[in-house]
Amino acid sequence: MNSSNSYSVVIKKLSKKFGDFEAVKDINFEIKHGEIFGILGPNGAGKTTTLNMILGLLKPTGGSILIEGNDNVEESEKVKQIIGFMTQETVVDSYLTARDNLRIFARLYHIPESQVEQKVNHALEEANLLSFADVAAGTFSGGMQRRLNLVKSMIQEPKILILDEPTTGLDVQSRVSMWNEIKRLNHEGMTIILTTQYLEEADSLCDRIAIIDHGTVKAIGTAQELKRMVSKGNILGINASEKDEEKVLKLLKSKFGIALVHNNNRLEATIDSDMLGNMAKIAQALDREGINVEAISMHLPTMDDVFIKLTGSSFRDKAGEQQSSMNKVSKYGR
Ligand SMILES: Nc1ncnc2c1ncn2[C@@H]1O[C@H](COP(=O)(O)OP(=O)(O)OP(=O)(O)O)[C@@H](O)[C@H]1O
Ligand SMILES: [Mg+2]
Repeated sequence: MNSSNSYSVVIKKLSKKFGDFEAVKDINFEIKHGEIFGILGPNGAGKTTTLNMILGLLKPTGGSILIEGNDNVEESEKVKQIIGFMTQETVVDSYLTARDNLRIFARLYHIPESQVEQKVNHALEEANLLSFADVAAGTFSGGMQRRLNLVKSMIQEPKILILDEPTTGLDVQSRVSMWNEIKRLNHEGMTIILTTQYLEEADSLCDRIAIIDHGTVKAIGTAQELKRMVSKGNILGINASEKDEEKVLKLLKSKFGIALVHNNNRLEATIDSDMLGNMAKIAQALDREGINVEAISMHLPTMDDVFIKLTGSSFRDKAGEQQSSMNKVSKYGR
């Protein structure tokens, strides 16, 4: 085994220009066997463009990609058998039954005719769609279509599964069942690469995360490693009215030696864990000075803190609509 296939995927100096616009700029990373690797970034960050290049659907302007040691351009047929892909948009033929949708894909992936029916039945079972096998896919709920889309992308039993925003637009229940399915496939040995706009998804599901913004990789690591980059301690946050902010800054500096700074519409400072016991004292001191604060909180760094540190702006501000849709009922219903 040479060094290149000790990794599942090796990306070197990858870039993509559309005309003069550089959508992906000199990206480098490796994905280990058996990882759930997340590519986290807001709208337009370059996630789908990167995936399409990994899949060989889009020609890079520069750089190279090795999939299990195979160059994805020169050995594209081999790579096609290794990677399964679930697109960002659910693509099923709504006039065909679930069974026929899967049969078409089995043939696209050159599965021997003698094995097609067995593979299709297995996929229907995995998707929990056996009793709907002969119903037109267009009548399915969003969650059912997404499950059909998922098993369709795995019909050739790939080693690597790529999922482009697998849970965007899903209601909470469907999202959780998709997470469980991803974890199950990963436990069975599949390497998973997924993109997401959800901080919580990257945080709880992915072994490692690459944060991308404006086509560049800002940082790569486990959620813990990324959070430690922000701070080894806790973050103290105080929301005060504009007229009181100056008083809060002075008091915290003179009495507690804490230098607060403006961040994301409030005052923040990173403090050591041993300062935790001072929370009550800080609240009392503010009260004694007659300073009314709207909120005072202490928390470990979150993925949003990481994003602010790396890009200078809040992910939630950038992807506010997507984040709030986490809690909305899916447009697909059921
Ligand atoms: N075929 C194309 N021609 C021109 N520009 C493109 C093309 N495809 C993508 N882009 C641009 O490249 C940038 C990255 O797009 P991409 O689809 O990779 O983003 P993304 O991170 O997947 O975003 P989203 O979360 O919205 O899916 C965007 O600014 C997009 O407008
Ligand atoms: Mg995309």
